Amino acid sequence: MLVKLRVNGVTHSVDIEGNEKLLYTLRKLRYYGAKSGCETGNCGSCVVLVDSIPKNSCLIYTLQALPSSLETIEAISGTELGETIQQALVDTGGIQCGYCTPGIVISTYYLLKNFKDPSEKDIRSALDSHLCRCTGYKKILEGVKLAITRVKDKRKEKNQ
Ligand code: FES
Ligand code: FES
Repeated sequence: MLVKLRVNGVTHSVDIEGNEKLLYTLRKLRYYGAKSGCETGNCGSCVVLVDSIPKNSCLIYTLQALPSSLETIEAISGTELGETIQQALVDTGGIQCGYCTPGIVISTYYLLKNFKDPSEKDIRSALDSHLCRCTGYKKILEGVKLAITRVKDKRKEKNQ
């Protein structure tokens, strides 16, 4: 069936199966940033924002995502906040193969959009649903904390 899907501010017409998962529809539309990892909701590599909330796109039927507005790493990575998060992960060595990174960037983006001063518990809870096979998590945690510090500094500068 033909449906309209709004991704990163663009409305696409796309032909889907009734039981098609959002991750696959996004890939049909050439949004390859959300990664296919476990496909069981356990790794977080497929996370996208659905009406501004992080969701595992491997678990959602595309029909369930209508008429939501979706944001993927393709759009988020180019925002000032997205760039700050990515650079902080690079600077701390929180990126190695990068497969888990889009999902982690999106969850951190959500955290920083919704918490002015995230606590350790908030940070761990945001990262809780993400698996990484390379970094051992410590560097990711350091990267997210560095991003938070940089964002707070930028917000202070803007308010001066
Ligand atoms: S691929 Fe969706 S959670 Fe792992
Ligand atoms: S950097 Fe390779 S899975 Fe996380």
